[in-house]
Amino acid sequence: MKKLLVFNWKMNPRKAAEAHQLARSSDFAGVVVAPPFVFLEEVEVLLKKALLGAQDLFWQREGAFTGEVSADELKNFGVEYVIIGHSERRQVMGETDAIIARKIRAALTAGLRAILCVGETKAERSAQQKEEVLDRQLTIGISQIKNIPPSVRRRLLIAYEPVWAIGTGTPETPEDAATTSRWIKKLVKQHIGFAPPVLYGGSVNSQNIRNFVQLKDIDGALIGGASLKKLEVKKIVELTKIK
Ligand code: PGA
Repeated sequence: MKKLLVFNWKMNPRKAAEAHQLARSSDFAGVVVAPPFVFLEEVEVLLKKALLGAQDLFWQREGAFTGEVSADELKNFGVEYVIIGHSERRQVMGETDAIIARKIRAALTAGLRAILCVGETKAERSAQQKEEVLDRQLTIGISQIKNIPPSVRRRLLIAYEPVWAIGTGTPETPEDAATTSRWIKKLVKQHIGFAPPVLYGGSVNSQNIRNFVQLKDIDGALIGGASLKKLEVKKIVELTKIK
């Protein structure tokens, strides 16, 4: 598989004009741009090669759910990928594995590609609980898609993002990320019959991207901070060779 780069803008930028510029400089085949909901339209009209992503969704299809956005709404808008269960949503918004499982199902059945984010905190890692945490996040996260058609299930991707590596400037080593990626593929395959692509995320930038994407077990990267800098984006895309 070709390597995939997913640019997670998080709650940035503040102005549409900046979103506009950033989208233009991120428009490469093999890239997914995930802006905040308010800029989806802005970005959608600009992208010719890159695909559109969203950073979250709600699991119900429509109705009285103030402030939420459904998978169908995103799909009808041209969104192809959605990030689900990011550690910021787990930690800041209190999303549980059960909530995330419903979102994964909703995304896949609406025809989106869902990127399930998993990763251990520093404390969990220190306490030798990494595998236990990932096992729980994955097993529950995919628990609602066992009975959906295999072709629908196959739209699932996983992003391994150790929480201690996100936004800290200290990524996981590429070798350990690759080992974890293999472990994740095996575990998911045991549950739902196929090994999904696994992205690595956490302090990826132009200095280290190559070390990750050159490994066969790492199918791409989920990038936050560096995706907001035009020059970084250019270098990262070049180093990933997906132009
Ligand atoms: P970072 O964020 O690249 O800024 O570490 C990654 C993410 O949160 O997805």
